[in-house]
Amino acid sequence: MFKGKKVMLGVCGGIAAYKAIELLRLMVKAGADVSVVMTASAREFVTPLTFQTLSSNPVHSDLFDLYQEKEIGHISLADGADLFVIAPATANIIGKIAGGIADDLLTTTVMATRAPVLFAPAMNVHMYENPIYRRNEKSLRELGYHFIDPAFGALACGYEGQGKLPDPEAIFTAAQAVLAPQDLAGQKILVTAGPTREELDPVRYLSNYSSGKMGYAIASAAVQRGAEVVLVSGPTFLSAPAGVELVPVVSAEQMRACVLSVLPSATAVVKAAAVADYRPLTVAEQKIKKNDAELTVSLEKNPDILAEVGEKKQGQVVVGFAAETENLLKHASDKLKRKKLDLIVANDITQSGAGFDVDTNIVKLLHADGRVEELPQLSKDEVAHQLLDRVVALLH
Ligand code: PMT
Repeated sequence: MFKGKKVMLGVCGGIAAYKAIELLRLMVKAGADVSVVMTASAREFVTPLTFQTLSSNPVHSDLFDLYQEKEIGHISLADGADLFVIAPATANIIGKIAGGIADDLLTTTVMATRAPVLFAPAMNVHMYENPIYRRNEKSLRELGYHFIDPAFGALACGYEGQGKLPDPEAIFTAAQAVLAPQDLAGQKILVTAGPTREELDPVRYLSNYSSGKMGYAIASAAVQRGAEVVLVSGPTFLSAPAGVELVPVVSAEQMRACVLSVLPSATAVVKAAAVADYRPLTVAEQKIKKNDAELTVSLEKNPDILAEVGEKKQGQVVVGFAAETENLLKHASDKLKRKKLDLIVANDITQSGAGFDVDTNIVKLLHADGRVEELPQLSKDEVAHQLLDRVVALLH
């Protein structure tokens, strides 16, 4: 979403201004060309030099800068932007913009821009709850301005409550959502992610190396593109992406029950989960003791959830994944046909930078009509968006 995009990052005077540095770093890393506008108060908290060094662009703060204003600086900043992000946004800046006041470079530039604007408010909990602030935020929302709600927690002023600037990663995701095409609006996407755990005794289970990263990236990308998303996830260390309904499960049987209950209301299903194919035939009630040199565990087959989805689907777009160590295309295409899928994402998990736990993936997309697309090594976020581009095409 950020590649090649011009982003204006407005930084206001609040203790959370230091978090804007990390936000800037994330956006630059994602390929954005970021210019920073600081209010006079922001400069009391963090130095322009930090932003300038990390953005490789001059930092702007003076409305009457003689050099900038030879090109009418605030207008050229406003016109050049694809997105404005104001983080932290104080009650003061939100009040001024809501009231139509443009008395410094940031407020003037926001007033002049036609780009979408995302506010990340941060303030004392009582200021946040103040009806004047609420009215200002409401009127800006009604005018189409975007907001990410402040987080709950211990505030710098000593109070506990809502008012903390969200983590830079959360603001980054919200900004991505503002930039994303809303081509999945009105769709309900069911995504599965992570491993399943099949219990052996009270202290042991069978599982696999899935971290959930691929499935969570798909859920996050789908919500950014306007979908309602239900994420049925096996145990992972990840937090649910903002806006996603997370349904945590442990075993394949639990995942099956959740998937089948959501399926009738879904318009597309993407099964990135690594489901255990087998589970112990019996679960020992007590911890199994190491009395013998060998232990034999009998396993029985788990239900194939995706195959069942393929059988029961009623117009839903169904996408599966295939994690293979050999004969990638053959195995993936067998699964595509046997499970009656529209698309299967094949990843050769022996390749470095692909498959389990890493942040990137290298995939081939096999379509039901026989087309095969080969994608280069991409971040799992990028793979997710590429995949959703295909889902959008299939939905239409
Ligand atoms: O979670 P990460 O660490 O990010 O790793 C990502 C991933 C490697 C797990 C992901 O990219 C991936 O390939 N997921 C599918 C892994 C897998 O179990 O593949 P499979 O070939 O065993 O299964 C094929 C398809 O059937 C999958 O969509 C799977 O969800 C589904 N399945 C499999 C078995 C089963 N009993 N029920 C199922 O629904």
